[in-house]
Amino acid sequence: YVIGIDLGTSSLKGLLVDKEGNVLITKSSEYELLTPQPKFSEQNPNVWIEALDIVLKEIIEAFPEAASKTEGISFSGQMHSLVLLDENGAPLRNAILWNDVRTSKQCQNIMDKAGQEVIHITKNKALEGFTLPKLLWVKENEPTIWEHAKHFLLPKDYLGFYLTGNKQMEYSDAAGTLLLNVEEKVWSESIAELFELPLSIFPKLVESSEQIGIIKKELAEKFGFTTDIAVFSGGADNACAAVGAGIVEEGMGLASIGTSGVFLSYEPDGQQDYEGKVHYFNHAIKNSFYSMGVTLSAGYSLNWFKNTFAADKSYDQLLSNMDNVAIGSDGLLFTPYIMGERTPYTDSQIRGSFIGMDTRHTLDNFARAVVEGITFSLNDSKILMEENANKQFTRIVSVGGGAKNSDWLQIQADVFNAPVVNLTVEQGPGLGAAMIAAVGLSWFPTMNECVDKFVHYKEEFLPNPENVKKYKKVYEIYKGVYAATKETTH
Ligand code: XUL
Repeated sequence: YVIGIDLGTSSLKGLLVDKEGNVLITKSSEYELLTPQPKFSEQNPNVWIEALDIVLKEIIEAFPEAASKTEGISFSGQMHSLVLLDENGAPLRNAILWNDVRTSKQCQNIMDKAGQEVIHITKNKALEGFTLPKLLWVKENEPTIWEHAKHFLLPKDYLGFYLTGNKQMEYSDAAGTLLLNVEEKVWSESIAELFELPLSIFPKLVESSEQIGIIKKELAEKFGFTTDIAVFSGGADNACAAVGAGIVEEGMGLASIGTSGVFLSYEPDGQQDYEGKVHYFNHAIKNSFYSMGVTLSAGYSLNWFKNTFAADKSYDQLLSNMDNVAIGSDGLLFTPYIMGERTPYTDSQIRGSFIGMDTRHTLDNFARAVVEGITFSLNDSKILMEENANKQFTRIVSVGGGAKNSDWLQIQADVFNAPVVNLTVEQGPGLGAAMIAAVGLSWFPTMNECVDKFVHYKEEFLPNPENVKKYKKVYEIYKGVYAATKETTH
Protein backbone atom coordinates (compact mmCIF):
# COMPACT_ATOMS: atom_id res chain seq x y z
CA TYR A 1 0.00 0.00 0.00
CA VAL A 2 0.87 3.67 -0.19
CA ILE A 3 -0.46 6.56 1.87
CA GLY A 4 -1.27 9.93 0.31
CA ILE A 5 -1.47 12.84 2.73
CA ASP A 6 -3.31 16.01 1.71
CA LEU A 7 -2.29 18.89 3.97
CA GLY A 8 -5.08 21.40 3.35
CA THR A 9 -6.04 24.75 4.81
CA SER A 10 -8.78 23.43 7.09
CA SER A 11 -7.83 19.78 7.54
CA LEU A 12 -5.31 17.04 6.87
CA LYS A 13 -6.57 13.98 5.02
CA GLY A 14 -4.92 10.62 4.58
CA LEU A 15 -5.74 7.97 1.96
CA LEU A 16 -4.60 4.36 2.06
CA VAL A 17 -4.32 3.09 -1.52
CA ASP A 18 -3.51 -0.37 -2.91
CA LYS A 19 -1.56 -1.30 -6.04
CA GLU A 20 -4.71 -1.29 -8.17
CA GLY A 21 -5.46 2.30 -7.20
CA ASN A 22 -8.34 1.38 -4.86
CA VAL A 23 -8.75 3.75 -1.95
CA LEU A 24 -9.11 1.41 1.02
CA ILE A 25 -9.72 3.99 3.69
CA THR A 26 -9.65 7.74 4.24
CA LYS A 27 -9.21 9.56 7.55
CA SER A 28 -9.04 13.26 8.32
CA SER A 29 -8.40 15.64 11.16
CA GLU A 30 -9.38 19.32 11.22
CA TYR A 31 -7.60 22.40 12.51
CA GLU A 32 -8.26 26.08 12.83
CA LEU A 33 -7.29 29.06 10.75
CA LEU A 34 -5.93 31.88 12.91
CA THR A 35 -6.74 35.47 11.96
CA PRO A 36 -5.03 37.53 14.72
CA GLN A 37 -5.52 40.71 12.66
CA PRO A 38 -7.48 41.67 9.56
CA LYS A 39 -5.67 40.39 6.42
CA PHE A 40 -3.67 37.87 8.51
CA SER A 41 -4.11 34.13 8.07
CA GLU A 42 -1.85 31.82 10.06
CA GLN A 43 -1.46 28.30 11.41
CA ASN A 44 0.96 26.81 13.90
CA PRO A 45 2.88 24.13 11.94
CA ASN A 46 2.64 21.85 14.95
CA VAL A 47 -1.13 21.48 14.48
CA TRP A 48 -0.35 19.84 11.12
CA ILE A 49 1.96 17.41 12.94
CA GLU A 50 -0.75 16.60 15.48
CA ALA A 51 -3.23 16.03 12.66
CA LEU A 52 -0.74 13.78 10.83
CA ASP A 53 -0.21 11.73 14.00
CA ILE A 54 -3.96 11.29 14.43
CA VAL A 55 -4.60 10.38 10.80
CA LEU A 56 -1.76 7.82 10.56
CA LYS A 57 -2.78 6.16 13.84
CA GLU A 58 -6.43 6.05 12.76
CA ILE A 59 -5.58 4.54 9.38
CA ILE A 60 -3.71 1.70 11.06
CA GLU A 61 -6.42 1.21 13.69
CA ALA A 62 -9.14 1.04 11.06
CA PHE A 63 -7.10 -1.06 8.63
CA PRO A 64 -4.57 -3.14 10.63
CA GLU A 65 -2.97 -4.63 7.51
CA ALA A 66 -1.62 -1.13 6.78
CA ALA A 67 0.86 -1.61 9.64
CA SER A 68 2.92 -4.18 7.75
CA LYS A 69 1.87 -3.65 4.13
CA THR A 70 2.45 0.08 3.69
CA GLU A 71 5.57 0.70 1.61
CA GLY A 72 5.55 4.44 1.04
CA ILE A 73 4.01 7.78 1.90
CA SER A 74 3.91 11.15 0.19
CA PHE A 75 2.21 14.53 0.49
CA SER A 76 0.15 17.14 -1.25
CA GLY A 77 0.31 20.55 0.40
CA GLN A 78 -1.33 23.94 0.50
CA MET A 79 0.96 26.10 -1.63
CA HIS A 80 3.01 29.20 -0.86
CA SER A 81 2.58 29.21 2.97
CA LEU A 82 5.78 30.20 4.76
CA VAL A 83 7.26 27.96 7.48
CA LEU A 84 10.28 29.64 9.07
CA LEU A 85 12.66 27.49 11.14
CA ASP A 86 15.52 28.19 13.54
CA GLU A 87 18.86 26.39 13.50
CA ASN A 88 17.35 23.40 15.31
CA GLY A 89 14.49 23.10 12.86
CA ALA A 90 11.89 24.50 15.27
CA PRO A 91 9.24 26.89 13.88
CA LEU A 92 10.07 30.51 14.77
CA ARG A 93 6.53 31.78 14.32
CA ASN A 94 3.18 30.65 12.99
CA ALA A 95 3.16 29.79 9.31
CA ILE A 96 1.90 32.69 7.18
CA LEU A 97 -0.63 31.09 4.88
CA TRP A 98 -1.31 31.39 1.14
CA ASN A 99 -4.57 33.28 1.77
CA ASP A 100 -2.94 35.88 4.04
CA VAL A 101 -2.95 39.28 2.30
CA ARG A 102 -0.78 41.46 4.58
CA THR A 103 1.97 41.74 1.97
CA SER A 104 0.54 44.23 -0.57
CA LYS A 105 3.37 46.68 0.10
CA GLN A 106 6.04 44.00 -0.39
CA CYS A 107 4.39 42.89 -3.66
CA GLN A 108 4.38 46.47 -4.90
CA ASN A 109 8.07 46.79 -3.99
CA ILE A 110 8.93 43.58 -5.81
CA MET A 111 7.12 44.72 -8.95
CA ASP A 112 8.61 48.24 -8.77
CA LYS A 113 12.14 47.03 -8.19
CA ALA A 114 12.28 44.05 -10.55
CA GLY A 115 8.81 43.27 -11.92
CA GLN A 116 9.89 42.17 -15.40
CA GLU A 117 12.86 40.20 -14.13
CA VAL A 118 10.75 38.36 -11.56
CA ILE A 119 8.10 37.50 -14.17
CA HIS A 120 10.79 36.39 -16.61
CA ILE A 121 12.57 34.12 -14.13
CA THR A 122 9.71 32.80 -12.02
CA LYS A 123 6.99 32.99 -14.75
CA ASN A 124 4.64 34.51 -12.18
CA LYS A 125 3.61 37.96 -10.95
CA ALA A 126 4.11 38.93 -7.31
CA LEU A 127 0.85 38.22 -5.48
CA GLU A 128 0.16 38.59 -1.76
CA GLY A 129 -0.19 34.83 -1.39
CA PHE A 130 3.28 33.91 -2.68
CA THR A 131 6.22 33.15 -0.38
CA LEU A 132 8.80 35.80 -1.37
CA PRO A 133 6.60 38.73 -0.21
CA LYS A 134 6.01 36.85 3.07
CA LEU A 135 9.76 36.43 3.65
CA LEU A 136 10.21 40.15 3.00
CA TRP A 137 7.38 41.00 5.40
CA VAL A 138 9.03 39.04 8.22
CA LYS A 139 12.40 40.61 7.42
CA GLU A 140 10.92 44.12 7.60
CA ASN A 141 8.51 43.67 10.47
CA GLU A 142 10.00 41.02 12.74
CA PRO A 143 13.78 41.59 12.74
CA THR A 144 14.42 39.46 15.82
CA ILE A 145 12.67 36.47 14.30
CA TRP A 146 14.44 37.09 10.99
CA GLU A 147 17.80 37.10 12.73
CA HIS A 148 17.17 33.55 13.95
CA ALA A 149 15.73 32.27 10.67
CA LYS A 150 18.00 29.54 9.32
CA HIS A 151 15.67 27.64 6.95
CA PHE A 152 12.36 28.10 5.22
CA LEU A 153 10.05 25.34 4.08
CA LEU A 154 6.53 24.98 2.71
CA PRO A 155 3.88 23.16 4.76
CA LYS A 156 4.16 19.65 3.35
CA ASP A 157 7.96 19.82 3.49
CA TYR A 158 7.66 20.42 7.20
CA LEU A 159 5.79 17.10 7.47
CA GLY A 160 8.55 15.38 5.47
CA PHE A 161 11.12 16.91 7.80
CA TYR A 162 9.19 15.74 10.85
CA LEU A 163 8.97 12.16 9.56
CA THR A 164 12.54 11.82 8.25
CA GLY A 165 14.66 14.59 9.79
CA ASN A 166 15.58 15.82 6.30
CA LYS A 167 14.78 19.27 4.95
CA GLN A 168 14.11 19.77 1.25
CA MET A 169 11.57 21.20 -1.17
CA GLU A 170 10.43 19.77 -4.50
CA TYR A 171 9.97 21.81 -7.66
CA SER A 172 6.17 22.05 -7.88
CA ASP A 173 5.98 23.81 -4.51
CA ALA A 174 9.26 25.72 -4.93
CA ALA A 175 7.69 27.21 -8.08
CA GLY A 176 5.12 28.96 -5.89
CA THR A 177 7.72 30.82 -3.83
CA LEU A 178 8.59 33.39 -6.54
CA LEU A 179 12.22 32.46 -5.95
CA LEU A 180 12.64 29.58 -8.37
CA ASN A 181 13.89 29.82 -11.91
CA VAL A 182 10.99 27.67 -13.10
CA GLU A 183 12.41 26.67 -16.48
CA GLU A 184 15.94 25.90 -15.26
CA LYS A 185 14.82 24.34 -11.96
CA VAL A 186 17.30 26.21 -9.74
CA TRP A 187 16.88 28.85 -7.03
CA SER A 188 17.26 32.30 -8.56
CA GLU A 189 20.40 33.74 -7.06
CA SER A 190 19.69 37.07 -8.72
CA ILE A 191 16.28 37.43 -7.03
CA ALA A 192 17.78 36.35 -3.70
CA GLU A 193 20.49 38.97 -4.14
CA LEU A 194 18.10 41.73 -5.24
CA PHE A 195 16.01 41.27 -2.09
CA GLU A 196 18.94 40.48 0.18
CA LEU A 197 17.92 36.97 1.16
CA PRO A 198 20.75 34.66 2.27
CA LEU A 199 20.99 31.59 0.05
CA SER A 200 21.73 29.52 3.14
CA ILE A 201 18.03 29.58 4.14
CA PHE A 202 16.92 28.01 0.85
CA PRO A 203 16.23 24.27 1.08
CA LYS A 204 17.74 21.67 -1.20
CA LEU A 205 15.63 21.05 -4.33
CA VAL A 206 14.40 17.55 -5.20
CA GLU A 207 11.92 15.86 -7.57
CA SER A 208 8.39 15.02 -6.38
CA SER A 209 8.94 11.26 -6.53
CA GLU A 210 12.39 11.41 -4.96
CA GLN A 211 12.79 9.48 -1.72
CA ILE A 212 13.75 11.86 1.05
CA GLY A 213 14.22 9.26 3.77
CA ILE A 214 12.31 6.69 5.78
CA ILE A 215 9.97 7.31 8.71
CA LYS A 216 12.11 7.59 11.85
CA LYS A 217 12.03 4.43 14.00
CA GLU A 218 10.47 6.04 17.06
CA LEU A 219 7.71 7.62 14.99
CA ALA A 220 7.00 4.44 13.03
CA GLU A 221 6.58 2.65 16.38
CA LYS A 222 4.33 5.39 17.70
CA PHE A 223 2.01 5.13 14.68
CA GLY A 224 2.11 1.33 14.72
CA PHE A 225 4.02 0.61 11.49
CA THR A 226 6.03 -2.60 11.63
CA THR A 227 8.10 -2.10 8.46
CA ASP A 228 10.25 0.69 7.04
CA ILE A 229 8.15 3.29 5.22
CA ALA A 230 9.82 5.20 2.38
CA VAL A 231 8.97 8.91 2.35
CA PHE A 232 8.68 10.76 -1.00
CA SER A 233 8.71 14.53 -1.20
CA GLY A 234 5.27 15.04 -2.86
CA GLY A 235 3.79 18.04 -4.62
CA ALA A 236 1.84 21.29 -4.47
CA ASP A 237 -1.90 20.69 -4.04
CA ASN A 238 -2.79 21.93 -7.51
CA ALA A 239 -0.09 19.74 -9.09
CA CYS A 240 -1.30 16.74 -7.06
CA ALA A 241 -4.94 17.45 -7.98
CA ALA A 242 -3.84 17.47 -11.62
CA VAL A 243 -2.01 14.15 -11.20
CA GLY A 244 -5.04 12.64 -9.44
CA ALA A 245 -7.26 13.75 -12.33
CA GLY A 246 -4.88 12.40 -14.96
CA ILE A 247 -3.64 15.75 -16.31
CA VAL A 248 -0.37 14.29 -17.54
CA GLU A 249 -0.34 14.95 -21.28
CA GLU A 250 -0.70 17.68 -23.88
CA GLY A 251 -4.29 18.71 -24.64
CA MET A 252 -5.60 17.99 -21.15
CA GLY A 253 -7.13 20.59 -18.86
CA LEU A 254 -8.63 20.57 -15.39
CA ALA A 255 -11.65 22.66 -14.36
CA SER A 256 -11.87 22.52 -10.60
CA ILE A 257 -14.77 24.24 -8.85
CA GLY A 258 -14.26 24.35 -5.12
CA THR A 259 -14.64 27.46 -2.97
CA SER A 260 -12.30 29.03 -5.48
CA GLY A 261 -12.00 27.74 -9.02
CA VAL A 262 -8.98 26.67 -11.00
CA PHE A 263 -8.51 26.15 -14.71
CA LEU A 264 -5.28 24.27 -15.25
CA SER A 265 -3.50 23.07 -18.36
CA TYR A 266 -0.70 20.55 -18.81
CA GLU A 267 2.46 22.13 -20.25
CA PRO A 268 5.05 19.80 -21.80
CA ASP A 269 7.97 22.18 -21.22
CA GLY A 270 9.03 25.29 -19.35
CA GLN A 271 9.44 27.46 -22.41
CA GLN A 272 6.01 29.02 -22.67
CA ASP A 273 5.84 32.69 -21.81
CA TYR A 274 2.49 33.91 -20.50
CA GLU A 275 4.13 37.07 -19.11
CA GLY A 276 2.53 36.34 -15.74
CA LYS A 277 -1.05 36.46 -17.12
CA VAL A 278 -1.63 32.96 -15.73
CA HIS A 279 0.45 31.06 -13.16
CA TYR A 280 3.08 28.77 -14.59
CA PHE A 281 4.51 26.16 -12.26
CA ASN A 282 6.59 22.97 -12.36
CA HIS A 283 4.39 19.86 -12.35
CA ALA A 284 4.76 17.02 -9.86
CA ILE A 285 5.99 14.91 -12.79
CA LYS A 286 9.63 15.20 -13.73
CA ASN A 287 10.36 17.90 -16.33
CA SER A 288 6.75 18.83 -17.03
CA PHE A 289 4.83 21.96 -16.11
CA TYR A 290 1.32 23.35 -15.85
CA SER A 291 -0.30 26.72 -16.32
CA MET A 292 -3.19 27.79 -14.15
CA GLY A 293 -5.75 30.57 -13.77
CA VAL A 294 -7.79 31.18 -10.63
CA THR A 295 -11.39 32.32 -10.10
CA LEU A 296 -11.45 33.56 -6.53
CA SER A 297 -15.15 32.92 -5.85
CA ALA A 298 -16.32 29.92 -7.84
CA GLY A 299 -18.29 27.50 -5.65
CA TYR A 300 -18.28 30.30 -3.11
CA SER A 301 -20.47 32.43 -5.43
CA LEU A 302 -23.07 29.67 -5.60
CA ASN A 303 -22.78 29.11 -1.85
CA TRP A 304 -23.30 32.84 -1.21
CA PHE A 305 -26.25 32.95 -3.60
CA LYS A 306 -27.92 29.89 -2.03
CA ASN A 307 -27.44 31.11 1.54
CA THR A 308 -28.70 34.58 0.70
CA PHE A 309 -31.64 33.84 -1.60
CA ALA A 310 -32.52 30.15 -1.30
CA ALA A 311 -31.31 28.99 2.11
CA ASP A 312 -34.14 26.46 2.39
CA LYS A 313 -32.98 24.56 -0.69
CA SER A 314 -30.22 22.03 -1.23
CA TYR A 315 -27.77 22.61 -4.10
CA ASP A 316 -29.53 19.84 -6.03
CA GLN A 317 -32.89 21.55 -5.58
CA LEU A 318 -31.48 24.95 -6.48
CA LEU A 319 -30.03 23.64 -9.73
CA SER A 320 -32.82 21.18 -10.56
CA ASN A 321 -34.68 23.45 -13.02
CA MET A 322 -31.63 25.02 -14.59
CA ASP A 323 -32.15 22.99 -17.76
CA ASN A 324 -35.56 24.64 -18.32
CA VAL A 325 -33.91 28.04 -18.62
CA ALA A 326 -32.50 29.07 -22.01
CA ILE A 327 -28.77 29.46 -22.61
CA GLY A 328 -27.66 32.82 -21.26
CA SER A 329 -30.37 32.59 -18.56
CA ASP A 330 -32.83 34.54 -20.77
CA GLY A 331 -30.71 37.66 -20.69
CA LEU A 332 -29.53 37.50 -17.08
CA LEU A 333 -25.78 37.71 -16.57
CA PHE A 334 -23.71 37.23 -13.40
CA THR A 335 -20.05 38.05 -12.80
CA PRO A 336 -18.58 36.15 -9.82
CA TYR A 337 -16.28 38.90 -8.53
CA ILE A 338 -17.87 38.94 -5.07
CA MET A 339 -14.43 38.96 -3.40
CA GLY A 340 -12.44 40.45 -6.26
CA GLU A 341 -10.90 38.42 -9.08
CA ARG A 342 -7.48 36.89 -9.73
CA THR A 343 -7.31 35.71 -13.37
CA PRO A 344 -7.40 37.63 -15.67
CA TYR A 345 -7.65 40.88 -13.71
CA THR A 346 -5.62 40.55 -10.48
CA ASP A 347 -8.07 43.01 -8.94
CA SER A 348 -9.07 42.71 -5.29
CA GLN A 349 -11.42 45.73 -5.48
CA ILE A 350 -13.78 44.69 -8.28
CA ARG A 351 -17.17 43.35 -7.18
CA GLY A 352 -19.76 41.09 -8.83
CA SER A 353 -22.96 41.97 -10.62
CA PHE A 354 -26.28 40.71 -11.94
CA ILE A 355 -27.08 42.43 -15.20
CA GLY A 356 -30.24 42.37 -17.32
CA MET A 357 -32.85 41.54 -14.66
CA ASP A 358 -36.37 41.23 -16.05
CA THR A 359 -39.79 40.66 -14.46
CA ARG A 360 -39.92 37.25 -16.21
CA HIS A 361 -36.87 36.00 -14.35
CA THR A 362 -37.30 33.43 -11.60
CA LEU A 363 -34.96 31.87 -9.07
CA ASP A 364 -34.08 29.30 -11.77
CA ASN A 365 -32.77 32.07 -14.04
CA PHE A 366 -30.64 33.39 -11.22
CA ALA A 367 -29.25 29.95 -10.35
CA ARG A 368 -28.36 29.31 -13.99
CA ALA A 369 -26.81 32.78 -14.34
CA VAL A 370 -24.55 32.13 -11.32
CA VAL A 371 -23.44 28.77 -12.72
CA GLU A 372 -22.82 30.31 -16.15
CA GLY A 373 -20.92 33.27 -14.67
CA ILE A 374 -18.59 30.96 -12.73
CA THR A 375 -17.98 28.94 -15.90
CA PHE A 376 -17.30 32.09 -17.95
CA SER A 377 -14.72 33.16 -15.41
CA LEU A 378 -12.89 29.81 -15.72
CA ASN A 379 -13.19 30.20 -19.50
CA ASP A 380 -11.26 33.49 -19.22
CA SER A 381 -8.23 31.47 -18.06
CA LYS A 382 -8.71 28.84 -20.75
CA ILE A 383 -8.87 31.52 -23.47
CA LEU A 384 -5.65 33.11 -22.18
CA MET A 385 -3.92 29.75 -22.62
CA GLU A 386 -5.36 29.28 -26.11
CA GLU A 387 -4.46 32.79 -27.23
CA ASN A 388 -0.98 32.95 -25.71
CA ALA A 389 0.18 29.40 -26.32
CA ASN A 390 -2.01 28.05 -29.12
CA LYS A 391 -3.40 25.42 -26.79
CA GLN A 392 -6.10 23.07 -27.99
CA PHE A 393 -7.99 21.19 -25.34
CA THR A 394 -8.98 17.68 -26.32
CA ARG A 395 -10.26 16.74 -22.87
CA ILE A 396 -11.14 18.79 -19.81
CA VAL A 397 -11.58 16.95 -16.53
CA SER A 398 -14.16 18.57 -14.28
CA VAL A 399 -13.79 18.11 -10.51
CA GLY A 400 -15.44 19.57 -7.43
CA GLY A 401 -18.91 21.12 -7.29
CA GLY A 402 -19.12 21.60 -11.05
CA ALA A 403 -18.70 17.88 -11.64
CA LYS A 404 -21.65 16.86 -9.47
CA ASN A 405 -24.43 18.16 -11.74
CA SER A 406 -24.85 16.88 -15.30
CA ASP A 407 -26.47 20.13 -16.52
CA TRP A 408 -23.45 22.08 -15.25
CA LEU A 409 -21.10 19.56 -16.92
CA GLN A 410 -22.92 20.19 -20.24
CA ILE A 411 -22.68 23.96 -19.66
CA GLN A 412 -18.91 23.53 -19.19
CA ALA A 413 -18.61 21.52 -22.43
CA ASP A 414 -20.60 24.20 -24.31
CA VAL A 415 -18.79 27.21 -22.81
CA PHE A 416 -15.33 25.62 -23.10
CA ASN A 417 -16.21 24.20 -26.53
CA ALA A 418 -14.32 21.01 -25.62
CA PRO A 419 -15.17 17.52 -24.35
CA VAL A 420 -15.64 17.49 -20.57
CA VAL A 421 -15.38 14.37 -18.41
CA ASN A 422 -15.88 13.63 -14.73
CA LEU A 423 -14.14 11.01 -12.56
CA THR A 424 -15.63 7.74 -11.33
CA VAL A 425 -14.29 8.40 -7.83
CA GLU A 426 -13.07 11.82 -6.81
CA GLN A 427 -10.28 11.72 -4.26
CA GLY A 428 -8.60 15.07 -4.92
CA PRO A 429 -4.95 15.90 -4.30
CA GLY A 430 -4.49 13.08 -1.73
CA LEU A 431 -4.73 10.53 -4.54
CA GLY A 432 -2.10 12.48 -6.50
CA ALA A 433 0.16 12.28 -3.44
CA ALA A 434 -0.38 8.50 -3.21
CA MET A 435 0.43 8.21 -6.93
CA ILE A 436 3.70 10.11 -6.39
CA ALA A 437 4.64 7.52 -3.74
CA ALA A 438 3.60 4.68 -6.09
CA VAL A 439 5.89 6.02 -8.83
CA GLY A 440 8.64 6.69 -6.27
CA LEU A 441 8.46 3.05 -5.23
CA SER A 442 8.75 2.03 -8.93
CA TRP A 443 5.35 0.37 -8.91
CA PHE A 444 5.08 2.07 -12.31
CA PRO A 445 7.88 3.19 -14.64
CA THR A 446 6.17 6.53 -15.31
CA MET A 447 3.30 8.61 -13.94
CA ASN A 448 1.35 8.04 -17.17
CA GLU A 449 1.24 4.30 -16.46
CA CYS A 450 0.11 5.00 -12.91
CA VAL A 451 -2.68 7.24 -14.28
CA ASP A 452 -3.83 4.45 -16.62
CA LYS A 453 -4.24 2.20 -13.61
CA PHE A 454 -5.52 4.66 -10.98
CA VAL A 455 -7.65 7.27 -12.79
CA HIS A 456 -10.97 6.44 -14.45
CA TYR A 457 -13.47 8.70 -16.18
CA LYS A 458 -17.21 8.22 -15.78
CA GLU A 459 -19.12 10.22 -18.41
CA GLU A 460 -18.16 12.43 -21.33
CA PHE A 461 -20.08 15.60 -22.26
CA LEU A 462 -19.54 16.80 -25.81
CA PRO A 463 -20.05 20.40 -26.85
CA ASN A 464 -23.29 20.99 -28.75
CA PRO A 465 -22.47 23.27 -31.75
CA GLU A 466 -25.72 25.26 -31.42
CA ASN A 467 -25.10 25.90 -27.73
CA VAL A 468 -21.46 26.77 -28.37
CA LYS A 469 -22.55 29.49 -30.82
CA LYS A 470 -25.03 30.97 -28.35
CA TYR A 471 -22.51 30.92 -25.49
CA LYS A 472 -19.89 32.67 -27.62
CA LYS A 473 -22.27 35.65 -27.90
CA VAL A 474 -23.09 35.73 -24.19
CA TYR A 475 -19.41 35.34 -23.25
CA GLU A 476 -18.55 38.40 -25.39
CA ILE A 477 -21.03 40.42 -23.32
CA TYR A 478 -19.64 38.89 -20.09
CA LYS A 479 -16.12 40.02 -21.02
CA GLY A 480 -17.29 43.61 -21.30
CA VAL A 481 -18.81 43.71 -17.81
CA TYR A 482 -15.49 44.00 -15.95
CA ALA A 483 -14.47 47.27 -17.61
CA ALA A 484 -18.01 48.61 -17.48
CA THR A 485 -18.37 48.03 -13.71
CA LYS A 486 -14.81 48.81 -12.61
CA GLU A 487 -15.64 52.47 -11.96
CA THR A 488 -18.44 51.67 -9.55
CA THR A 489 -16.25 49.54 -7.29
CA HIS A 490 -12.86 51.29 -7.31
C1 XUL B 1 -2.58 28.50 -5.63
C2 XUL B 1 -3.20 28.86 -4.32
C3 XUL B 1 -4.13 27.88 -3.70
C4 XUL B 1 -3.44 27.06 -2.67
C5 XUL B 1 -4.49 26.36 -1.82
O1 XUL B 1 -1.87 29.55 -6.20
O2 XUL B 1 -2.95 29.89 -3.76
O3 XUL B 1 -4.75 27.08 -4.65
O4 XUL B 1 -2.60 26.13 -3.27
O5 XUL B 1 -3.90 25.47 -1.00
